[in-house]
Amino acid sequence: MNFKALFDGSKYLSPEVQANLHEGYRLYPLRSMDYDRGYLDVLSVLTEVGQHTRESWNSQFQFMKKHNDTYFTITITDEKTNRIAATGTILIEHKFVHFNGCVGHIEDIAVDASHQGKKLGLRVIEALKYIGQVNGCYKVILDCNVNNIPFYEKCGFTPKESQMAWYIPQDKPHL
Ligand code: ACO
Repeated sequence: MNFKALFDGSKYLSPEVQANLHEGYRLYPLRSMDYDRGYLDVLSVLTEVGQHTRESWNSQFQFMKKHNDTYFTITITDEKTNRIAATGTILIEHKFVHFNGCVGHIEDIAVDASHQGKKLGLRVIEALKYIGQVNGCYKVILDCNVNNIPFYEKCGFTPKESQMAWYIPQDKPHL
């Protein structure tokens, strides 16, 4: 099949996480063909995704692939249906502090409603933590709502400090 993977799975995907998935599920890097395998549908359990076309998908995929030392999006596929069941992303931030240290930022965790409660969310987080380790990050952090705190605690995270946000006004020019 003709497709591109976002990054090198043999280097960044945890064999242990793959081995711990229930039979019939498989871990992959995001792939160019995932537009046709329900990737955006899975993301929509998380938030508004927008009206994508194949062109808007391709353009975003190509941008991420060009920067694939920064963007690591993974999927777990239901091999029976060949549809995406779960996804998550880790962004690798390069810093001066901690002597040119790296921080992993986990984003956009989503498990399709019909697959929730089968430990796929946990496996996605384990896989992203592994990618953070392979990239030499000294910590991995994320923002979530309070309802998801117990889930992330089960994934080994602890609450730390506060989240702040500024949403850029869309109705008038700014700056
Ligand atoms: N509250 C309490 N415990 C929870 C919750 C919750 N909301 N969600 C999962 N858990 C527990 C499970 O019971 C399980 O515990 P156990 O090991 O004792 O049995 C453990 O956490 C692992 O659960 P999974 O089966 O791996 O969870 P699931 O696959 O359903 O994924 C997720 C959880 C990602 C929150 C999923 O429900 C989902 O996609 N929700 C909608 C989107 C969302 O909120 N995403 C997170 C946004 S935050 C971010 O992206 C950084």
